[in-house]
Amino acid sequence: MIGWNTPAFLALKEHHADVVSVIGPRHVRRAKSHAPDATHVVVPDDGDVEQILAGLARAEIAIDGFDFVCTIGEWPIVAAALLAEHGKAVGMNLSAAIALRDKFVQKRLVREAGLPVAGAQMPDLLSDLDGEQLTYPIVIKPLTGAGSQDTHVVSDAAELASLVETYQQPPRGPWLVEEFMEGEELHLDGVVRAGVVRALSVSRYFQNVIDIKSGGLVGSVLLDPNENPDLYSKAQSLLTGVLDAVGHEDGIFHAEAFEKDGELTFSEVGGRLGGGVVQDIVLRRFGVDLSDEWARAALGLPPGEPAEPSKEQCGWVHLQAPAGVAEHVPDESELLAQPGCVEAAISIAPGSQIPSFSAASNMKAGAVIIVGDSEEQVRERTLAAAAWFSQAVTVQAPETV
Ligand SMILES: Nc1ncnc2c1ncn2[C@@H]1O[C@H](COP(=O)(O)OP(=O)(O)O)[C@@H](O)[C@H]1O
Ligand SMILES: [Mg+2]
Repeated sequence: MIGWNTPAFLALKEHHADVVSVIGPRHVRRAKSHAPDATHVVVPDDGDVEQILAGLARAEIAIDGFDFVCTIGEWPIVAAALLAEHGKAVGMNLSAAIALRDKFVQKRLVREAGLPVAGAQMPDLLSDLDGEQLTYPIVIKPLTGAGSQDTHVVSDAAELASLVETYQQPPRGPWLVEEFMEGEELHLDGVVRAGVVRALSVSRYFQNVIDIKSGGLVGSVLLDPNENPDLYSKAQSLLTGVLDAVGHEDGIFHAEAFEKDGELTFSEVGGRLGGGVVQDIVLRRFGVDLSDEWARAALGLPPGEPAEPSKEQCGWVHLQAPAGVAEHVPDESELLAQPGCVEAAISIAPGSQIPSFSAASNMKAGAVIIVGDSEEQVRERTLAAAAWFSQAVTVQAPETV
């Protein structure tokens, strides 16, 4: 297994796999504490094939000795596919892995399959764009970015000129430049086996993720399949086409789409778990354990049986807090006392520097899962819990920082 993820590792062990984990330095502590008896090969960058091969060589582990090579993560997906192919192990097909990582290749395949997707071009450098010739707004992003990092909505030629300036030194590129899609953003999570979408969860973000740049929250309400049959059927058919176009036939997926006037436009897809608490939400609402389904697909085992799902509607949000150094941080028990709150995790403590939430969508001070009787109630409760937390955290006065 390349890259660390504790539920993924435990799922592989559950199916009796003898696992060698290749991990980067930032996961060493967690991996060794959660799996003290496993073989961990530490490399500077677990997405880099050269470093993985060198790490395995240092550990005297032969690359052709593996039956399976897998990752549940986003970065190492191409490295894992390449190593599987090279070592004649079972793993993801290399062209599917590239299509799941590279946003330009992915959108081209989806467009060629006749599915709705934003128009895109790929300048090598931003300075190659002729700002006067573009139809604004446009979205500019890295080809293999994540968490909305270095992603910008650009409204006119002057904004583009300032972005060209920002990314001039050191030069960065190539870039993906897309037509701006109107509509509300959804995330679609589930399982695909032999090209058939077997489990599907559709959630609506409270705000489109890019709105983190202007103080937006990252969170969503899981939409009820019985109340949204048309949306679920459109999502199922879009995803079936998309997964076929990119060649991702067996595994899990996390995709995004825009919804406008009841119609869906594809945005992106990864062969991985959704961020934050998405896997907890899917387990709660559909009884589908995405880590276990990932492990089953990776090991070529049949899909599992879903557990009894909860009938309650649910949603989640990443908690934010005022900028600065935290002084008082409430207890998780206080969050759990908020209406509908069933799970709470806080990741800041007094003395912590509060992260910059506008930098990336995975920046958070914590996360909650909220349940309710209706999608609207879940939405209201989740936003209320986020607002409560944000005002309950106090930060040190600037002179004491
Ligand atoms: N073409 C687009 N039109 C409108 N909004 C977009 C477009 N592309 C990206 N966004 C916004 O930017 C966010 C980040 O872009 P995305 O392509 O999802 O990259 P990643 O999540 O890998 O950083 C999206 O969640 C969405 O809110
Ligand atoms: Mg995205």
